[in-house]
Amino acid sequence: MHEAEKHHAVTLTINGARRTVTVEARKLLVHLIREDLRLTGTHVGCDTSQCGACTIELDGRAVKSCTVLAVMADGASITTIEGLSEPGGTLHPVQAAFHDHHALQCGFCTPGMVMSVRQLLKDHSDPSEEDIRHGLAGNICRCTGYHNIVRAVESLVVKETQS
Ligand code: FES
Ligand code: FES
Repeated sequence: MHEAEKHHAVTLTINGARRTVTVEARKLLVHLIREDLRLTGTHVGCDTSQCGACTIELDGRAVKSCTVLAVMADGASITTIEGLSEPGGTLHPVQAAFHDHHALQCGFCTPGMVMSVRQLLKDHSDPSEEDIRHGLAGNICRCTGYHNIVRAVESLVVKETQS
């Protein structure tokens, strides 16, 4: 195969900005995000679909970006952790809840957790503790900070039902 045929142009919208990058056919989406777009808030904990650290939003659904080839994201709309806060730095409500409930220790799992919590709250308007733990089962926290993560999510549910 000719060398140029192994590379593909991928055009996507990421955090509202349209970008085109040329990637090897075998490149994973998480590596496109981190290496080509320099959005390093999306982490790689395993790259074998185990830990959830690489979770992003792809066309409105939370996905583990190490399970997607970059070329499969051609034409897609992606949101990463960098796209959640307001331009002035105001945290997204899920980020603020994590902050307020001390739901992070080293922070390595946090971007993926936050993206998965957003999906969880889309799927469940009033999740039980079991729903929350089940919804986040694909995200591993090596600091084992699950208790406060669950409390943070519960605080978001309480806010929504009170508003
Ligand atoms: Fe994708 Fe661990 S890096 S699941
Ligand atoms: Fe350290 Fe979760 S806060 S891995």
